[in-house]
Amino acid sequence: MPTETSQHHQSHPPTAGCLFSGMGGFASGMLKAGYDVRWANDKDAYACDAFRHRIPSVRLLAKDIAEVYPDDDNIEPVDVLVGGFPCQPFSVAGPARGFEDERSNTFYEAIRLARTLSPKPKCLILENVPHVRRWMDRLTPALNEAGYHFGNSNVWEMNVKDVTGIPQDRSRIFMCAFSMNEFSHNPFSPPPPPKNGALLPLADFIDKSQQADPSLYLPKDSKYYKLLADKIESGDARNLFHLRRTYVREKQGELCPTLTASMGLGGHNVPFLEDRWGIRKLSPTEVARLQGFEDLEVFPVGMSRAQKYRLVGNAVCVQMACLVATEIRKVLEQ
Ligand SMILES: C[S@@+](CC[C@H](N)C(=O)[O-])C[C@H]1O[C@@H](n2cnc3c(N)ncnc32)[C@H](O)[C@@H]1O
Repeated sequence: MPTETSQHHQSHPPTAGCLFSGMGGFASGMLKAGYDVRWANDKDAYACDAFRHRIPSVRLLAKDIAEVYPDDDNIEPVDVLVGGFPCQPFSVAGPARGFEDERSNTFYEAIRLARTLSPKPKCLILENVPHVRRWMDRLTPALNEAGYHFGNSNVWEMNVKDVTGIPQDRSRIFMCAFSMNEFSHNPFSPPPPPKNGALLPLADFIDKSQQADPSLYLPKDSKYYKLLADKIESGDARNLFHLRRTYVREKQGELCPTLTASMGLGGHNVPFLEDRWGIRKLSPTEVARLQGFEDLEVFPVGMSRAQKYRLVGNAVCVQMACLVATEIRKVLEQ
């Protein structure tokens, strides 16, 4: 099993803490970028199981962030605090009630934790969906009042397909704030987008050469089978297909559509493909690969397929997190 190896060999790598750590996409990216990840926090039991399984070396506080206190929990200060606070309140996929939605409190909890660590983290990296920009007028002053330089020019928006070569269409933003105690201004601005990044073939991530688990195939008498079969026949069978409420969407260009936590809700939220044995959903291992998880054993034994899909859909793409972590490390080491 590939290990969480460091690409850097410094004697004192920067330290990091991971909030909303999920199954550890961001944490893995930080480790890949050479950070010393000291601790992580998530309240979801399945996410914690997967995190411990994948990254047993990192101390995990398995509880609500609102109950995490540096003194009581004996959490050490870190150079960089990262977190993808829950995106549901801000996502176009839902009613997008923003700060009217009580789940948005997690953003303020992250800031509360940064403030109570002593010394405060030098840098905060907050990941979310691009639509969160609509609430910059709330996010920016909260970060500034907490003693962090932050503004629109410190937001890095990227798409997985453009920056990692992984063929998933997934846009995310990373808000990078720097402590006023350590910096006279925010030293980070997003680097220019990479030129002509080669997209890896879908075939590197999905396996059509052999029959998958039979339970992944749609029964021919399913009401969705004909809908999908017709669309695949009139489209390009090399592509992936996504079932919407009443129709099928073909994702053009051999790309995977954005993977979401709703994949775990059952129904047909997982992308479909056609192979020699029929029409089937992508497997949990395939969607995990499309989020940058390289481990051979990504999930704990016995975890249900629904939980695997949900955790993967919730994750930060490992390579994208590594990219951000690497840029921030350069800034910190300048
Ligand atoms: C979008 S996922 C984050 C994925 C993760 N950052 C990664 O690196 O792959 C959001 C996570 O926040 C966690 N979460 C939501 N509310 C929380 C809370 N009040 N306290 C702690 N964790 C919470 C969820 O359990 C979920 O795992």
